[in-house]
Amino acid sequence: MPEYNLAVIAGDGVGPEVVAEGRKVLDALSQASGGPTFRYTEYPWGSAYYRETGRMMPEDGLELLQGHDAILFGAVGDPDIPDHITLQGLLLPMRRAFDQALNIRPCYLHPGVVSPISGKQPGDVDMVIFRENTEGEYAPVGGRLYEGTPDETVIQTGVFTRRGTERIIRAAFDNCVQRNGRLKVTSVTKSNALAFSMVFWDEVFEDVAKDYPQVSTESLLVDRASMDLVRWPEDFDVIVSSNLFGDILSDIAAVVTGSMGLAASANVNPGRKHPSMFESVHGAAFDIAGKNLANPLATISATAMMMDHFGEHQSARRIDGAVARSLQERKVVTGDLGGSASTTEVGDEIVRLLGEG
Ligand code: NAI
Ligand code: MG
Repeated sequence: MPEYNLAVIAGDGVGPEVVAEGRKVLDALSQASGGPTFRYTEYPWGSAYYRETGRMMPEDGLELLQGHDAILFGAVGDPDIPDHITLQGLLLPMRRAFDQALNIRPCYLHPGVVSPISGKQPGDVDMVIFRENTEGEYAPVGGRLYEGTPDETVIQTGVFTRRGTERIIRAAFDNCVQRNGRLKVTSVTKSNALAFSMVFWDEVFEDVAKDYPQVSTESLLVDRASMDLVRWPEDFDVIVSSNLFGDILSDIAAVVTGSMGLAASANVNPGRKHPSMFESVHGAAFDIAGKNLANPLATISATAMMMDHFGEHQSARRIDGAVARSLQERKVVTGDLGGSASTTEVGDEIVRLLGEG
């Protein structure tokens, strides 16, 4: 029976609440005969740690994480600490240092969930976003000159490498071939305005597409793609996009398929030399934090992505099945989906459904 050595960073806001439910589900898996088992190491990093130490994680934080098989992550963010400090102090360095180049974000309209877009039936919306995760617009390259003077000058540069661009696009095509049904990859750029980076991206996309003649392709400008995600979300299959655009499009896709509280995310290191990280798409959700109101299903679905990553496909399907059943039955759903259940009640319900097989 394999044992996986997991790092747990619950972080801030609703992070600890939803991660606790993710762990509950993993523990339930280990109780099944022949199921995988887990050894957890909790790292109490985030905004509280920053208040005490001036850092979001210790100096040797990345070294401590390196030895783990995977990282289960909650969220970072604090109303009193600037977001660039919380994000650049913990989440983004992890993605870069561990070369978690592929940010994979599936969005599916489940039976029992109502889309805010009228007339959409369960299964109509079924897409996965491949977001470049280590460079692009989020590369910390730039500077600030003459701060506080009338000559103040700020430069923020995007970084696009052939290696980084090609591997996210190739991963999107590979996934598209593996997925059943629709066979389309949509590349989302803004090459009319960003005439270096995005024109380059389009060229790489065309090159890679030649290796997948069976897959239809489409290139959309990001403004148009945002509109289409709302009016025709059923047209999308696999979307591939840069770090910034993929980030924005995944929030749109999440709400179109019902809620931010359902959207899971894997940050995958393609070479598997470093741990991959599994988390929800959402952030610290200040408005509902500490109230046992957050929907934990995004994090729970992220644990299913972790199981797939480990090759524990049967465990992954069990979690996905329990999530789908709970949504269809609608007996225990949180406020974002129109119910009144608490975070912990939803976690308990998933564990109960896992027990039923
Ligand atoms: P957010 O994703 O935290 O919240 C957006 C909206 O979705 C809110 O109305 C929230 O209540 C709702 N929501 C989020 N998660 C939910 C859940 N599990 N169940 C039900 N509803 C949920 O985005 P926002 O408000 O822009 O960011 C808040 C903080 O989180 C900021 O400090 C931001 O920097 C940080 N953040 C961190 C991320 C991360 O750690 N991966 C990702 C996004 C934001
Ligand atoms: Mg985001």
